[in-house]
Amino acid sequence: MLESLNVNENTISIYDDIERFPLFNKVKANHDVSVYINEQDKTLSAMGFTEHNYAHVEIVKDRTGYILETLGYDDHTIDLALCAAWMHDIGNVVNRVNHSQTGAIMAFNILSSIGVPSDDIAPIIRAIGNHDEGDGIPVSLISAALILSDKSDVRRSRVLKEMSDFDKHDKVNYSVTSSSLKINEQHTLVELNLEVDTEYSEIGEFFEIFMERFLLCHRAAKVLNLDFNLIINNQKLM
Ligand SMILES: [Fe+2]
Ligand SMILES: [Fe+2]
Repeated sequence: MLESLNVNENTISIYDDIERFPLFNKVKANHDVSVYINEQDKTLSAMGFTEHNYAHVEIVKDRTGYILETLGYDDHTIDLALCAAWMHDIGNVVNRVNHSQTGAIMAFNILSSIGVPSDDIAPIIRAIGNHDEGDGIPVSLISAALILSDKSDVRRSRVLKEMSDFDKHDKVNYSVTSSSLKINEQHTLVELNLEVDTEYSEIGEFFEIFMERFLLCHRAAKVLNLDFNLIINNQKLM
Protein backbone atom coordinates (compact mmCIF):
# COMPACT_ATOMS: atom_id res chain seq x y z
CA MET A 1 0.00 0.00 0.00
CA LEU A 2 1.38 3.40 -0.99
CA GLU A 3 0.50 6.61 0.79
CA SER A 4 0.28 9.33 -1.81
CA LEU A 5 0.08 13.00 -2.60
CA ASN A 6 -1.27 13.62 -6.06
CA VAL A 7 -0.81 17.04 -7.60
CA ASN A 8 -4.26 16.76 -9.15
CA GLU A 9 -5.90 16.58 -5.72
CA ASN A 10 -7.47 19.83 -4.59
CA THR A 11 -7.41 19.75 -0.81
CA ILE A 12 -7.23 22.33 1.97
CA SER A 13 -3.64 22.40 3.17
CA ILE A 14 -2.97 21.05 6.65
CA TYR A 15 0.10 23.29 6.68
CA ASP A 16 -2.07 26.37 7.26
CA ASP A 17 -2.31 25.27 10.93
CA ILE A 18 -0.63 28.18 12.76
CA GLU A 19 -0.34 26.21 16.01
CA ARG A 20 1.69 23.44 14.38
CA PHE A 21 3.59 25.49 11.79
CA PRO A 22 3.96 29.03 13.19
CA LEU A 23 7.05 30.14 11.25
CA PHE A 24 5.78 28.87 7.91
CA ASN A 25 2.51 30.75 8.34
CA LYS A 26 4.44 33.90 9.24
CA VAL A 27 6.64 33.54 6.14
CA LYS A 28 3.63 32.80 3.92
CA ALA A 29 1.91 35.98 5.14
CA ASN A 30 5.07 38.10 4.75
CA HIS A 31 4.62 40.83 2.14
CA ASP A 32 8.26 40.81 0.96
CA VAL A 33 8.22 37.04 0.40
CA SER A 34 5.01 37.33 -1.64
CA VAL A 35 6.52 40.10 -3.77
CA TYR A 36 9.66 38.07 -4.49
CA ILE A 37 7.69 34.93 -5.39
CA ASN A 38 5.69 36.93 -7.93
CA GLU A 39 8.71 38.84 -9.21
CA GLN A 40 10.94 35.76 -9.66
CA ASP A 41 8.25 34.22 -11.85
CA LYS A 42 8.31 37.36 -14.01
CA THR A 43 12.06 36.94 -14.54
CA LEU A 44 11.61 33.34 -15.65
CA SER A 45 8.56 34.11 -17.81
CA ALA A 46 10.62 36.73 -19.64
CA MET A 47 13.26 34.05 -20.26
CA GLY A 48 10.63 31.60 -21.59
CA PHE A 49 10.89 29.19 -18.65
CA THR A 50 8.12 26.96 -17.30
CA GLU A 51 5.74 28.21 -14.57
CA HIS A 52 7.48 28.96 -11.24
CA ASN A 53 4.67 30.86 -9.52
CA TYR A 54 2.34 29.79 -6.69
CA ALA A 55 1.17 26.58 -8.37
CA HIS A 56 4.80 25.36 -8.29
CA VAL A 57 5.48 26.75 -4.81
CA GLU A 58 2.31 25.14 -3.38
CA ILE A 59 3.16 21.73 -4.85
CA VAL A 60 6.75 21.88 -3.59
CA LYS A 61 5.54 22.97 -0.14
CA ASP A 62 2.87 20.23 0.05
CA ARG A 63 5.26 17.50 -1.13
CA THR A 64 8.01 18.61 1.27
CA GLY A 65 5.55 18.52 4.18
CA TYR A 66 4.12 15.20 3.02
CA ILE A 67 7.55 13.52 2.83
CA LEU A 68 8.71 14.63 6.28
CA GLU A 69 5.34 14.08 7.98
CA THR A 70 4.96 10.60 6.47
CA LEU A 71 8.45 9.70 7.68
CA GLY A 72 7.53 10.83 11.20
CA TYR A 73 9.59 13.98 11.62
CA ASP A 74 8.57 16.51 14.27
CA ASP A 75 6.48 19.61 13.58
CA HIS A 76 9.39 22.03 14.08
CA THR A 77 11.49 20.27 11.43
CA ILE A 78 8.49 20.29 9.08
CA ASP A 79 7.87 24.00 9.87
CA LEU A 80 11.42 24.89 8.80
CA ALA A 81 11.18 22.68 5.71
CA LEU A 82 7.93 24.37 4.64
CA CYS A 83 9.69 27.75 4.88
CA ALA A 84 12.52 26.49 2.67
CA ALA A 85 10.03 25.11 0.16
CA TRP A 86 8.02 28.35 0.08
CA MET A 87 11.05 30.55 -0.58
CA HIS A 88 13.22 28.11 -2.56
CA ASP A 89 13.00 29.90 -5.92
CA ILE A 90 12.95 33.60 -4.87
CA GLY A 91 16.57 34.01 -6.04
CA ASN A 92 15.31 33.86 -9.63
CA VAL A 93 14.28 37.50 -9.20
CA VAL A 94 18.01 38.32 -9.42
CA ASN A 95 19.16 35.81 -12.04
CA ARG A 96 18.50 32.20 -12.99
CA VAL A 97 22.22 31.49 -12.62
CA ASN A 98 23.03 30.68 -8.98
CA HIS A 99 19.40 31.34 -8.02
CA SER A 100 19.54 28.83 -5.18
CA GLN A 101 22.44 30.62 -3.47
CA THR A 102 21.02 34.08 -4.16
CA GLY A 103 17.67 32.91 -2.78
CA ALA A 104 19.34 31.56 0.36
CA ILE A 105 20.92 34.96 1.04
CA MET A 106 17.59 36.70 0.40
CA ALA A 107 15.84 34.29 2.79
CA PHE A 108 18.56 34.94 5.37
CA ASN A 109 17.85 38.68 5.20
CA ILE A 110 14.07 38.26 5.39
CA LEU A 111 14.19 35.78 8.27
CA SER A 112 16.74 37.89 10.18
CA SER A 113 14.57 40.97 9.76
CA ILE A 114 11.58 39.25 11.39
CA GLY A 115 13.66 37.99 14.31
CA VAL A 116 14.03 34.30 13.46
CA PRO A 117 16.91 32.79 15.49
CA SER A 118 20.01 31.71 13.58
CA ASP A 119 19.49 28.09 14.70
CA ASP A 120 16.30 28.08 12.64
CA ILE A 121 17.60 30.17 9.74
CA ALA A 122 20.59 27.88 9.12
CA PRO A 123 18.65 24.72 8.10
CA ILE A 124 16.33 26.77 5.87
CA ILE A 125 19.06 28.55 3.90
CA ARG A 126 21.15 25.37 3.67
CA ALA A 127 18.23 23.66 1.93
CA ILE A 128 17.44 26.59 -0.37
CA GLY A 129 21.11 26.99 -1.34
CA ASN A 130 21.35 23.31 -2.34
CA HIS A 131 18.08 22.68 -4.17
CA ASP A 132 19.18 22.97 -7.80
CA GLU A 133 20.55 20.12 -9.89
CA GLY A 134 23.36 22.29 -11.26
CA ASP A 135 25.29 22.44 -7.97
CA GLY A 136 22.91 21.26 -5.26
CA ILE A 137 23.70 18.38 -2.93
CA PRO A 138 21.19 16.80 -0.51
CA VAL A 139 23.07 17.96 2.59
CA SER A 140 20.29 17.49 5.19
CA LEU A 141 16.88 15.91 5.68
CA ILE A 142 15.16 19.19 4.81
CA SER A 143 17.37 19.65 1.77
CA ALA A 144 16.61 16.11 0.58
CA ALA A 145 12.85 16.55 1.00
CA LEU A 146 12.98 19.88 -0.86
CA ILE A 147 14.98 18.40 -3.76
CA LEU A 148 12.55 15.47 -4.18
CA SER A 149 9.57 17.83 -4.08
CA ASP A 150 11.00 20.42 -6.47
CA LYS A 151 12.52 18.07 -9.03
CA SER A 152 9.40 15.89 -9.17
CA ASP A 153 7.17 18.82 -10.21
CA VAL A 154 6.96 17.97 -13.88
CA ARG A 155 3.54 18.61 -15.46
CA ARG A 156 1.68 19.91 -18.48
CA SER A 157 0.28 22.97 -16.68
CA ARG A 158 3.81 24.34 -16.12
CA VAL A 159 4.13 25.07 -19.84
CA LEU A 160 3.17 28.68 -20.54
CA LYS A 161 4.02 28.98 -24.25
CA GLU A 162 2.00 28.34 -27.38
CA MET A 163 2.72 24.90 -28.80
CA SER A 164 4.34 26.43 -31.90
CA ASP A 165 7.00 27.98 -29.62
CA PHE A 166 7.77 24.81 -27.64
CA ASP A 167 11.43 23.98 -26.96
CA LYS A 168 12.59 20.56 -25.69
CA HIS A 169 11.82 21.43 -22.05
CA ASP A 170 8.30 22.53 -22.92
CA LYS A 171 7.68 19.35 -24.91
CA VAL A 172 8.66 17.03 -22.09
CA ASN A 173 6.74 19.02 -19.47
CA TYR A 174 3.70 19.19 -21.73
CA SER A 175 3.81 15.44 -22.25
CA VAL A 176 3.20 14.77 -18.52
CA THR A 177 -0.55 14.44 -18.01
CA SER A 178 -0.46 13.09 -14.44
CA SER A 179 2.11 13.07 -11.66
CA SER A 180 2.13 11.68 -8.13
CA LEU A 181 4.77 11.21 -5.45
CA LYS A 182 4.23 8.32 -3.03
CA ILE A 183 6.02 6.82 -0.05
CA ASN A 184 5.26 3.16 0.67
CA GLU A 185 3.74 1.95 3.94
CA GLN A 186 7.05 0.46 5.09
CA HIS A 187 8.73 3.86 4.54
CA THR A 188 11.47 2.28 2.46
CA LEU A 189 10.58 3.65 -0.99
CA VAL A 190 9.51 6.90 -2.62
CA GLU A 191 7.94 6.53 -6.03
CA LEU A 192 7.42 9.20 -8.67
CA ASN A 193 4.67 8.03 -10.98
CA LEU A 194 4.22 9.90 -14.27
CA GLU A 195 1.76 9.45 -17.09
CA VAL A 196 3.49 10.61 -20.27
CA ASP A 197 1.70 11.27 -23.55
CA THR A 198 4.30 10.08 -26.05
CA GLU A 199 2.61 12.05 -28.83
CA TYR A 200 4.44 15.09 -27.44
CA SER A 201 7.68 13.57 -26.11
CA GLU A 202 9.48 10.26 -26.57
CA ILE A 203 10.69 8.59 -23.37
CA GLY A 204 14.29 8.97 -24.60
CA GLU A 205 13.82 12.71 -25.01
CA PHE A 206 12.29 12.80 -21.55
CA PHE A 207 15.41 11.23 -20.05
CA GLU A 208 17.74 13.50 -22.00
CA ILE A 209 16.12 16.51 -20.35
CA PHE A 210 15.43 15.12 -16.89
CA MET A 211 18.20 12.56 -16.20
CA GLU A 212 20.23 14.94 -14.03
CA ARG A 213 17.25 15.86 -11.88
CA PHE A 214 16.12 12.26 -11.41
CA LEU A 215 19.65 11.26 -10.36
CA LEU A 216 19.54 14.06 -7.79
CA CYS A 217 16.15 12.70 -6.59
CA HIS A 218 17.80 9.30 -6.18
CA ARG A 219 20.58 10.83 -4.06
CA ALA A 220 18.07 12.83 -2.01
CA ALA A 221 15.97 9.73 -1.33
CA LYS A 222 19.08 7.96 0.03
CA VAL A 223 19.52 10.76 2.63
CA LEU A 224 15.97 9.97 3.81
CA ASN A 225 16.78 6.22 3.87
CA LEU A 226 14.48 5.64 0.91
CA ASP A 227 14.92 4.00 -2.46
CA PHE A 228 13.74 6.09 -5.41
CA ASN A 229 11.60 4.61 -8.15
CA LEU A 230 10.63 6.41 -11.33
CA ILE A 231 7.57 4.90 -12.98
CA ILE A 232 6.58 6.18 -16.43
CA ASN A 233 3.44 4.78 -18.03
CA ASN A 234 3.44 1.87 -15.56
CA GLN A 235 7.04 0.94 -16.39
CA LYS A 236 9.79 1.17 -13.77
CA LEU A 237 12.63 3.09 -15.38
CA MET A 238 14.74 3.86 -12.28
FE1 LIG B 1 14.95 26.40 -8.35
FE1 LIG C 1 11.50 25.19 -7.97
